[in-house]
Amino acid sequence: MISCCEGNRSLVVNLLNFWSTSYSEGCKDRKMHLPSLLLCLSLGAIVKYAAASDWCYTGCDHSPGHWGDLSGSHCGENRQSPINIDPHNVHSDPKLGNFNLTNFDSPNTIKSMKIDSHTVKLILEDNEVEVSGGGLNGTYSTIQFHFHWGNKEHHPGSEHTIEGHRYPMEMHIVSLKKGYTAEQAVKDSEGIAVLGFLINATEDGNMSGPWDMLTSNLTGATGNAVDVNLTISIDDLIGDVNLTKFYRYMGSLTTPNCNEAVVWTVFQEPININKELIQRFPTKTGVTDVYRPVQKLNGRKVYASPATPLPPSHSFCYDDHCAYSPSHWSSLPLSHCAGERQSPIDIVTNSTVTDDTLGAFTYKKFDDKHTIKYITNTGHAVKCVLKEDTVEVSGGGLEHVYSTLQFHFHWGSTAADSKGSEHTVDNMRYPMEMHIVSKRKDLSLEDAVEAPDGLAVLGFFIEPTDSTKSSSSSGNHETTSTSDKGPWEKLTNYLLFITNINSRVDFTEEISIDDLLGSVNREAYYRYNGSLTTPSCNEAVIWTVFQEPVKVDKDLMKLFPTLAGYTNVFRPRQNLHSRAVLVTKSASSAPGPIMLLLLLACLGAFSFHL
Ligand SMILES: *[C@@H]1O[C@H](CO)[C@@H](O)[C@H](O)[C@H]1NC(C)=O
Ligand SMILES: *[C@@H]1O[C@H](CO)[C@@H](O)[C@H](O)[C@H]1NC(C)=O
Ligand SMILES: *[C@@H]1O[C@H](CO)[C@@H](O)[C@H](O)[C@H]1NC(C)=O
Ligand SMILES: [Zn+2]
Ligand SMILES: [Zn+2]
Repeated sequence: MISCCEGNRSLVVNLLNFWSTSYSEGCKDRKMHLPSLLLCLSLGAIVKYAAASDWCYTGCDHSPGHWGDLSGSHCGENRQSPINIDPHNVHSDPKLGNFNLTNFDSPNTIKSMKIDSHTVKLILEDNEVEVSGGGLNGTYSTIQFHFHWGNKEHHPGSEHTIEGHRYPMEMHIVSLKKGYTAEQAVKDSEGIAVLGFLINATEDGNMSGPWDMLTSNLTGATGNAVDVNLTISIDDLIGDVNLTKFYRYMGSLTTPNCNEAVVWTVFQEPININKELIQRFPTKTGVTDVYRPVQKLNGRKVYASPATPLPPSHSFCYDDHCAYSPSHWSSLPLSHCAGERQSPIDIVTNSTVTDDTLGAFTYKKFDDKHTIKYITNTGHAVKCVLKEDTVEVSGGGLEHVYSTLQFHFHWGSTAADSKGSEHTVDNMRYPMEMHIVSKRKDLSLEDAVEAPDGLAVLGFFIEPTDSTKSSSSSGNHETTSTSDKGPWEKLTNYLLFITNINSRVDFTEEISIDDLLGSVNREAYYRYNGSLTTPSCNEAVIWTVFQEPVKVDKDLMKLFPTLAGYTNVFRPRQNLHSRAVLVTKSASSAPGPIMLLLLLACLGAFSFHL
């Protein structure tokens, strides 16, 4: 995890990147036609000729914002690298299959090492290492790998950033289309394949091993290639990174002349190495901050291999103020939103089917006051994320144990009579709805969202404490709900800290889920098969919608739209199609817990007397 300071710093860097990128855009017109001699020289970055050092990363006339001015340069064009990769906006591509890597496991492929003011480069033996598969068109011969890094003050220096996050370092494994010379490769839009590995700094981890061997050989920059006796394989350096998870886009070399000839692969998982070993790059070479700022996408698409887990797209909204309002959610990438098992629905009580097997739930740690890890404003909801593998739900007709991940809220507006629940009952919409989301304990989240019963959501309607509409406003509920104001007040106090979208704050108040639910009757509920109610709307949810609403003070309810900064965050009702809605036996005239106890006591007494 990055610290606050690092986060701020990378924000600053991104702002700087923005300026330098804009500047280089402006240089486009001055781009010259390249004489082939210069082209050969410019290949210094990828082949073993000595490069003319007429450019730099900082402190010379041709720093990145001016690379476009260099003669023969493509650096101001439209298909440049590196880029920021936003996993919310990448497209999954089934053609991006597994790589075939030849001699990546051989410890005898490194021929020499060259350290100059731009990088540390390991040059490979000719025609030994190859890359194919991974959606590449044909086979590529690997010629070298090299590194990009930041500086001694732990300033990160990867070239690609992920959602704006810059990793400490990046490794590039460079391959030319098999049979091509470097000159031919830079003229083909797919002439070069670069495999990019982000490098993450860890506190622990092996201080010996391949990365120690490699970094022990680092010296001050001389610009000469020197033979090295490094008996490590590329696989040794890659370690346990999952090579089936990667991003793909068409880009350029990231050093002048920035030829637009590169098929880029950026692996999703970083290589984790000890931070002391990372520090050897700036410290032992004296070379710092050798990375190019991120470049504009200019309409390019970034793809992900099918194995890459992706977050749902955040470009959706509930109103008409974005491209993806609810009726267009189905055109989002990977969307299930047009399926026939969608949520929420209107529950028509006289069409429900009573099911005797829908018994009581078993809750684990619902009474624990320390299970909420943090609270966040997602831009669509306020979500409380729980500590992993702590809270569980089972029973209630569910066939598996589910571990609870988070709960969140849907609401309407700040109006006194606002209605913002997702489910409706006989067309009646409640003021708010709370969703407690759990995934099958035996499945990973990735697998759970693909399984028809992978998720279980418990939905609770919320209505004001002083409402007279409650069907079960018996005397004992009125009194307990007043004393329930405490936990909701504690919870809504946190909304003050998350008024910015995507902000989050660690939760330290002592509140259990039971505290929030209060004395609501959890024996009477509806059950149906449905979906997530936000994109990608995966049809993986066993829904439980409790009949009795949770009571919350109406002034506290108002804080959700007021402080989160948006209103009416509920999806419109979806068609039931051929689905059944089941209901527990104790349905409409559900006895309160005390009544139930009495009833059980009577039954017990009765059967005892039999
Ligand atoms: C694959 O590469 C070959 C040879 O370079 C080229 O002729 C062909 O058009 C490429 N195919 C695709 C789908 O890009
Ligand atoms: C990076 O390293 C930190 C510290 O060891 C770790 O907490 C984090 O999970 C790592 N990030 C990734 C993406 O592996
Ligand atoms: C949900 O789907 C499963 C599998 O298709 C089915 O067995 C079950 O009866 C369904 N539940 C409801 C409430 O319709
Ligand atoms: Zn590079
Ligand atoms: Zn929800």
